Amino acid sequence: MIKPDGVQRGYMGEIISRFEKKGMVCKGLKTFMTPREVAEEHYKDLSSKPFFGDLCDYICSGPVVCMVWEGPGVVKSARLMIGATNPLESAPGTIRGDLAVEVGRNVIHGSDSVESAEREIALWFGGDDELLDYEMCIKPWVREE
Ligand code: PPS
Repeated sequence: MIKPDGVQRGYMGEIISRFEKKGMVCKGLKTFMTPREVAEEHYKDLSSKPFFGDLCDYICSGPVVCMVWEGPGVVKSARLMIGATNPLESAPGTIRGDLAVEVGRNVIHGSDSVESAEREIALWFGGDDELLDYEMCIKPWVREE
């Protein structure tokens, strides 16, 4: 998910482009104004943290871009491309390492496991009609399978 700061700073194209160039396949994408209850459900494991309220305010403060990317090892690979949670500890070349300086404005969220991804897709997307099932025509040039 591209967070509100990423959208407001004009990084939608740049971020989507990085996933496309890597060879991941986009199976779902939408802009979305996040209802408070969706933000609170998404971050419910952090509800006891002192920053929970600010984090939910921030996620609801403007449009986000919800994305579903498919590919080999995509969750781990996307996390590497995104970089460490604290942008000051994210390696140069990663999205956060290149585009952010504060943990509370770190531009993008990525699911931390396949289980989290499944939970988050179910939370953020309205159902299968919002997700696509198709083969990318460049696939033989990206994958051997
Ligand atoms: S923690 O504290 O270790 O459980 O949190 P962490 O896994 O590092 O981060 C989880 C998400 O919380 C966000 N975060 C913050 N937001 C605002 N302010 C502060 N101080 C802060 N610390 C962590 C962080 O960006 C993570 O968001 P996502 O969207 O999951 O990347």
